[in-house]
Amino acid sequence: MIDPSYLSEILIPSDKLQARIAELGAEISRDYAGQDLLLLAVLKGSVLFLTDLMRHITVPHAIDFMAVSSYGTGQKSTGVVRIMKDLDASIEGRSVLIVEDIIDTGATLEYLVRILQARMPASLRICTLLNKPSRREVEVPVDYVGFDIPNKFVLGYGLDFHELYRNLPYVAVLSPQYYE
Ligand code: IMP
Ligand code: MG
Repeated sequence: MIDPSYLSEILIPSDKLQARIAELGAEISRDYAGQDLLLLAVLKGSVLFLTDLMRHITVPHAIDFMAVSSYGTGQKSTGVVRIMKDLDASIEGRSVLIVEDIIDTGATLEYLVRILQARMPASLRICTLLNKPSRREVEVPVDYVGFDIPNKFVLGYGLDFHELYRNLPYVAVLSPQYYE
């Protein structure tokens, strides 16, 4: 059961998410025509985004997963990024597109980009569903952005609050009384 008191507003309804994801898929399909595309999804938050996005990508592509931890279970970055699960296969010479749920401070992606560049992909770009530009502490080059959002803690559509609510088909704002 979802306790509705956790949610203060629906920020991005399902139909808006799906329409924007279709646009991103079309753009990526154009940009990666003829390339050896690998979608690298960052667990767990980007899982719903990945599965919807790839249905709109019309060029052949593989998927792989990495899990990193920067937050623990709370809302504040610990500043320490750890690899919890690495990729299954080599990315050398491949066109890698990182698929992220949200970019907040940028610390997670800055770290990921650094270690992935060392593995010599043909190219390395970033696609994020959500972006909080006002929170950025480390600059990362983002190539595809679904939505810029204000500095609020959001949940749903893959994003969790203490590991719950990832299943919501929309992106909602956490009620301020639960902010840490
Ligand atoms: P960054 O390293 O500060 O950019 O944080 C990125 C990660 O923090 C994301 O992949 C999310 O897991 C988590 N995160 C940041 N903001 C939110 C939010 O508003 N809701 C849920 N998770 C978030
Ligand atoms: Mg995450």
